[in-house]
Amino acid sequence: MKKLPIVMDFDTGTDDAIALICALMHRDILDIRAITAVAGNVPLEATAANTLNIVDALGHTDIPVAKGAAAPLKRELKCAISHGKTGLGDVVIPPSKRSFSEKDAAEVIYDAAVECKGELICLATGPQTNLALAIQRHPDIVHLIKKVYIMGGCLVGGNMTQASEFNAYVDPDALQILFRSGLDIAMIGLDVTLQTELPVWVKEMVERIETPEARLASQVMDFCLRRNKEWGYDVANLHDVVAFCAIVNPSVLRFKRYYVDVETEGTITRGMTVADFRDVCPDKEKNADCAEDIDLGGFWKWFVDIFKDYERK
Ligand code: RIB
Ligand code: CA
Repeated sequence: MKKLPIVMDFDTGTDDAIALICALMHRDILDIRAITAVAGNVPLEATAANTLNIVDALGHTDIPVAKGAAAPLKRELKCAISHGKTGLGDVVIPPSKRSFSEKDAAEVIYDAAVECKGELICLATGPQTNLALAIQRHPDIVHLIKKVYIMGGCLVGGNMTQASEFNAYVDPDALQILFRSGLDIAMIGLDVTLQTELPVWVKEMVERIETPEARLASQVMDFCLRRNKEWGYDVANLHDVVAFCAIVNPSVLRFKRYYVDVETEGTITRGMTVADFRDVCPDKEKNADCAEDIDLGGFWKWFVDIFKDYERK
């Protein structure tokens, strides 16, 4: 079967890291053209190093890794604190000896889109700055990317403010460019990702599996579960893993297509992803498949089986 060409953009933090590890275990069906990093959870130096170190620690030194934007298009960078200073808590990964791609993320994404002649899909699980820059520099890219799967936004509520999700809040201008570009978007937002509160039994099942992938992922999950106790944090949600799941196992998600735009001027609504639930804008094309619900049992089974099946290969 022909592999699916993909570029993945992360602000590697803990849930990005687990999504990346899952993706690297799918190279039998994914043609990973490049992996790019953006500032978000932590500054770019950390997200980029985390991304490259994970890719290389798991033996994928053939995949180019590129650095992207160190700040949102127009705003000051706002980082999270729940991933710790490094972005991976207290998990230590041997530093890669490899250099980053010479080109920046936006160029690497565009080059991959041109090479794949309209077949490329993108997974983007941080602020959408890199993709927005690629669209600004190369508007023809919207005809060359088949679909963009984002972890970002939410149909109702938020986690950064009462109205907006973190990635959308950090760079609302970039997300608005994406939604207004004509690209076909799958929006995997908090509506489904906040349901994936990491159960201890999942971490325990993965940590019993003797592979480098399972070892690294369980170390990250262990930090997330400890963090909540020690720091009194909310539960650990595998937000970005759900966005990856939408690509390789969409049957555990229920989607509905809406016209979605992004608030960039609001004070209390900065970064709000606003869906037209009642078709009051018939002249506006429905631009996004929005995840509205998730089969949690199916999701956790799929997640643990990735590690189990990879062990047997
Ligand atoms: O709101 C959750 C999202 O913001 C996740 O992608 C997390 O990694 C952070 O980037
Ligand atoms: Ca992320």
